[in-house]
Amino acid sequence: MSDSRVLYLIACAAPPTRRIRTGIEMAQKAGWDVCLVLTPSAARWVEQDMPLLQEMTGHPVRTAYKLPDEPDVLPSPDAILVAPATFNTLNKWAQGISDTLALGLVTEAIGLQLPLVALPYLNQAQAAHPALGQTVDFLRANGVTVLLGDGGFVPHVPKHGDLDGYPWDAAFAALA
Ligand SMILES: Cc1cc2nc3c(=O)[nH]c(=O)nc-3n(C[C@H](O)[C@H](O)[C@H](O)COP(=O)(O)O)c2cc1C
Repeated sequence: MSDSRVLYLIACAAPPTRRIRTGIEMAQKAGWDVCLVLTPSAARWVEQDMPLLQEMTGHPVRTAYKLPDEPDVLPSPDAILVAPATFNTLNKWAQGISDTLALGLVTEAIGLQLPLVALPYLNQAQAAHPALGQTVDFLRANGVTVLLGDGGFVPHVPKHGDLDGYPWDAAFAALA
């Protein structure tokens, strides 16, 4: 894996995170050296799986900022995929808020002009909030491929999510 390109897979606290192994496997099949970063909320959802996720990726799973005198434990990313991207993290990302490691990475990545893909997981009520349209427009205008709508993730009726239909493949096609 050492000469593979490095993908930071950043997962937020939405149901596809319970199947983050699928995302890791697909990324690895696509040739990426995957480093998993979880928001603090997402980390609570997969607490039991941490040793397995670490073993799968071959890297520590990061969930929080390091202390100033601690070393960097992950290689630098060549690209970042935020999947699942929550309503919360998307809106904070567009606002330049960086109070989680995940947000710190993606807010800086806009300035670094890294390839950035976001695959949301939202219901129709969240998608109808007026902030979301502005967020998506802003992120797209600043170089982020936001896979929302046709060809990406289409918001579901509240409480009727379809985990089997989560379009991981669209994310890897966008990164290719
Ligand atoms: C069972 C459950 C399901 C949730 N599903 C979603 C979801 O599909 N999309 C979403 O944006 N937020 C969802 N949320 C809300 C997020 O978990 C919440 O906004 C959280 O603060 C997100 O934090 P993060 O963006 O730092 O991961 C869900 C929460 C719970 C408890």
